[in-house]
Amino acid sequence: MTSKEIRQKFLDFFQEKGHQIVPSAPIVLQDDPTLMFSNSGMTQFKDFFLGYKEPSCLRIADTQKCLRVSGKHNDLDDVGRDTYHHTMFEMLGNWSFGDYFKQEAIAWAWELLTEVYQISKDDLYVTIFEGDASENLERDQEAYNFWKEHIDESRIINGNKKDNFWEMGETGPCGPCSEIHIDIRNAEEKAKIPGRELVNQDHPQVVEIWNLVFMEFLRKADKSLEKLPKQNVDTGMGFERLCMTLQGKTSNYDTDVFSPLIAKVEQISGEKYTAILENEKDIAIRVVVDHIRAVAFAIADGQLPSNGGAGYVIRRILRRAISYSYRFLGMKEAFLYQLIAILKDQMGSFFPEIIKQEKLVTEVIREEENAFLKTIELGLIRLDSIIKNALKHNEKKLPGEQVFELYDTYGFPADLSRIIAEEKGLSIDEAGFEEEMAKQKQRSRKSSTSKTYDWVMLQEKTETFVGYDLTEHPVKITRYRKIENKDGVFYQIALDETPFYAEGGGQVGDTGFLENATERIEILDTKKENNLNLSLIDVLPEDITARFTAKIDLSRRQDIQNNHSATHLLHEALRNVLGTHVEQKGSFVGPDYLRFDFSHFSKMTEEELTTVEQQVNDKIRKNITLHEYRSIPIQEAIDKGAMALFGEKYGDTVRMIEIESSRELCGGTHVKSTGEIGWFKIESETSAAAGIRRIEAITGTKANAYFKDLEKNYQEIAKFLKSKEILKSIQKLTEENQLLKTEIERLKAEKAKQETLKWKEEYVDKGDRKLLVKKTSMDAASIKDIIFQLKKEIPSSLTIIFSDAGNKPMISIGISDDLTHIYQAGVLIKELAKEIQGGGGGAPTFATAGGKKLDGLEQAFKKANLL
Ligand code: ALA
Repeated sequence: MTSKEIRQKFLDFFQEKGHQIVPSAPIVLQDDPTLMFSNSGMTQFKDFFLGYKEPSCLRIADTQKCLRVSGKHNDLDDVGRDTYHHTMFEMLGNWSFGDYFKQEAIAWAWELLTEVYQISKDDLYVTIFEGDASENLERDQEAYNFWKEHIDESRIINGNKKDNFWEMGETGPCGPCSEIHIDIRNAEEKAKIPGRELVNQDHPQVVEIWNLVFMEFLRKADKSLEKLPKQNVDTGMGFERLCMTLQGKTSNYDTDVFSPLIAKVEQISGEKYTAILENEKDIAIRVVVDHIRAVAFAIADGQLPSNGGAGYVIRRILRRAISYSYRFLGMKEAFLYQLIAILKDQMGSFFPEIIKQEKLVTEVIREEENAFLKTIELGLIRLDSIIKNALKHNEKKLPGEQVFELYDTYGFPADLSRIIAEEKGLSIDEAGFEEEMAKQKQRSRKSSTSKTYDWVMLQEKTETFVGYDLTEHPVKITRYRKIENKDGVFYQIALDETPFYAEGGGQVGDTGFLENATERIEILDTKKENNLNLSLIDVLPEDITARFTAKIDLSRRQDIQNNHSATHLLHEALRNVLGTHVEQKGSFVGPDYLRFDFSHFSKMTEEELTTVEQQVNDKIRKNITLHEYRSIPIQEAIDKGAMALFGEKYGDTVRMIEIESSRELCGGTHVKSTGEIGWFKIESETSAAAGIRRIEAITGTKANAYFKDLEKNYQEIAKFLKSKEILKSIQKLTEENQLLKTEIERLKAEKAKQETLKWKEEYVDKGDRKLLVKKTSMDAASIKDIIFQLKKEIPSSLTIIFSDAGNKPMISIGISDDLTHIYQAGVLIKELAKEIQGGGGGAPTFATAGGKKLDGLEQAFKKANLL
């Protein structure tokens, strides 16, 4: 069975059992401060479990792209070293939101595995939660009883909280779980040790394939458990492991999920994959084919590698792949990007985003590879000098601090330092390295430490956002919680009907205040958490239950709206002018400016920029009325031609903003008609990353201020020039300036000529030589001219000129050719320049030196006279 067939059979099976099949959510999460990536199939359904949203169908199934590389579930260090952990993997899952529970979940899992996929019952084991006294939770007898109906009791194993109580993160939905494990060892191995003893023992061939979670609880910030409103089912089956089982392999990497990628790596690197666990080349190949999937899909889903947050995690994964292939496969040039074409052929039919974004993903990866390979090269040079220094001082270890600096500042992998040091018979001061690492962790912990307390609920009321229609509204606080971070103590509040827009979709959050007869509370910012708009304040009201009028900062909001609507116009104009390959890759919409990142592969020309700007301004002048479709099914919006952004999840109804022909899915706030924007002005067009351009622009108030400024400058210049014809005046001035320069040059040359004539008479005859020592304020070029003239005209001459031009001491010496057997200008100058703390040099016949000590000229002058 091919992997494609295996995936399809799963979905078909659950469709027959009344499940709606939905697409995978993006791997990168938006608006969830507790999680960066989808780390399991349930992530996109979190709101359904928490009761924030109602699903349109109570039974759902899908395959979800997951990433377990940060936070509670982090497998990164194991990847490549074993045969069954991955950064990105597909999780097949079926869900019940308050519909069926343990009995059906267990029966269907069993039916699918043993009847549809025909896995032998003799190879399967299941675990159930044994209970936990500290949590006051009992053994999951119910699950045990249901399993008993399908499987021999000797194959049902008790599991502890670590293995059999699944939690999404530090907080969030959770519950006891029942895992299904498979034993794929050969008969001989099986006879030696019963599979039962190897369950959950990290045996590569006795592995968990499916986890059935009975989601009943919510883990709160104070660590206590609360019952969820409904009993739910959340299951997750490792797709790659299932393929390994059904394709009769003993490693995920031997399945057709990975083999085409491995073949390509073999072809490019010339190395053979031998599937040996400890073999470094094999580890490197596994790392590469695993990591490329994670990085490619993260980029396709909108997360570019960067220096912070989710982008940094992606960059680190990519760098891990580069450094493994550099070290063990000898790949000193970018090559990972070539794997994207393979990935596209292999997964594109099910995950079309990889087809759509192929070019961008390829370009971004290639650029990242090149940049990191350069880092490695620079790091190698630095490491070389650290090694040389250690060898010179007979040290056996490289200083931990310096190796850490290489790692921390240059991003040079410590492993690589270790290996290279070993090649020179050296080791690394590991304790020192660890100490630096610990210090750094502490520093970053200090700067990011924040503590969030549990909610204090004031009233059970639904909290809604009314800010699309209202900017001022009577409100009550429904809940609040305290937050402590490095900036102090704050409170987040939710309002029953809040007009404050929460940061999202690139648009910044609203500020403003809450007011009543006795109090005025300032709203510092508003952010989103799941479905809640949370406003930030730094003092709680005296009477927190009072009624307030919420007022948003209106002029700031207007500026923001101008920028947001202009962003949509800009997006459309870019697609008109550059082509439909232009897609939004990120945006920032604040009160002062807008920033728009989009896919495009070359710098925009002046002409293109002018046309784009013009098109946007034309639409502004047309004063087009905006149409808002507040809540329509996502498909309807797409059918209307809306440009879908990343981040929409299944079940979302969406909001669509229409400005004539521009249609975008958008949750932001906008002008009523485009005339409000006033004016649109592009300030810069730069590169944001490989294949991504960035435009920054201003509108409304700021554009107005920009033109006012320009006008003011213009008027000041005109006043200064005493003419309104600025360009003509400047051209005239430049011409005059040029003429004056030429005149000055001519006069200087004239003066030098006269000096030469005068100085000729001033040489002192010293028998075998004629000596001239002079002080002047002439510049270096004139002095040089004179000296060259004199030494040519006066035989056996020694000319020494001191100048204080520009208040800087300078000495110049000229010696006629026939005297160089006695005096060398280059030697003499060194001696004299000491007096002015200067250095200099030159040929035997001419030398010059500048210095720092002006009052040293006198002493040098005296010395010169003695020559
Ligand atoms: N959410 C469960 C898991 O990830 C199914 O294992």
